[in-house]
Amino acid sequence: MQAVDVVKHVQHAGSSLSILQGVNLTLYPGETVAIVGASGSGKSTLLGLLAGLDHPSGGQIALFGKPLGPLDEDARARLRHQFVGFVFQSFQLMPALTALENVMLPLELAGDPEAESQAKAMLERVGLSQRLDHLPKYLSGGEQQRVALARAFVASPKLLFADEPTGNLDAATGAQIISLMFQLNRAQGTTLVLVTHDSALASRCDRAFHLTGGKLVELSRE
Ligand SMILES: Nc1ncnc2c1ncn2[C@@H]1O[C@H](COP(=O)(O)OP(=O)(O)OP(=O)(O)O)[C@@H](O)[C@H]1O
Ligand SMILES: [Mg+2]
Repeated sequence: MQAVDVVKHVQHAGSSLSILQGVNLTLYPGETVAIVGASGSGKSTLLGLLAGLDHPSGGQIALFGKPLGPLDEDARARLRHQFVGFVFQSFQLMPALTALENVMLPLELAGDPEAESQAKAMLERVGLSQRLDHLPKYLSGGEQQRVALARAFVASPKLLFADEPTGNLDAATGAQIISLMFQLNRAQGTTLVLVTHDSALASRCDRAFHLTGGKLVELSRE
């Protein structure tokens, strides 16, 4: 993934609001990257752009060497389904689908005949074997977050974006989820990009960036 001079502004209440003001970032295969920054600094906006879910107002983003700009919505969606996992801050589960069906969805889109057994195994890994048939509205916030994580992991994406993936979890469950992400990174070479307020998690990553004033600044490490 490569982002060059990415700018994002939105129109709001008649005036233009500048969120990102020239972000540059290159992700290398298999690395783990943390993005930290104050609430409202644009972290979720940036993640959505890097994953091809939203269009920048300026600059270029390429996923796996393919510039996203010229691709239409279908081509972007295909690229995402094939390679990208995304854990939204607000989960964004399908409300009419059970936990199991939500996690099966990316596998079914990929035509995987083992969708059900793989989705069950992943839900077991996040500790939700007892909640397979629950609709999202009958799950707690942390349970919904774990379903969202299972859905993002299940198709073994090459690139996983996670927006505050442990924000709603207790310390023990959060630690389990984090170790699951790092296992995926080690076992399958998945590149991880995590937005987090947790400095311990950020320091476990290969690199960390601070989003401030609409720009990314790499944090130096000893
Ligand atoms: N479509 C939009 N219209 C108007 N304002 C927007 C829009 N999208 C984002 N913003 C504003 O841009 C800023 C950045 O939002 P964003 O969600 O990216 O922040 P964040 O860094 O993820 O914050 P948090 O840590 O609270 O999740 C916010 O102040 C938000 O109100
Ligand atoms: Mg956010």
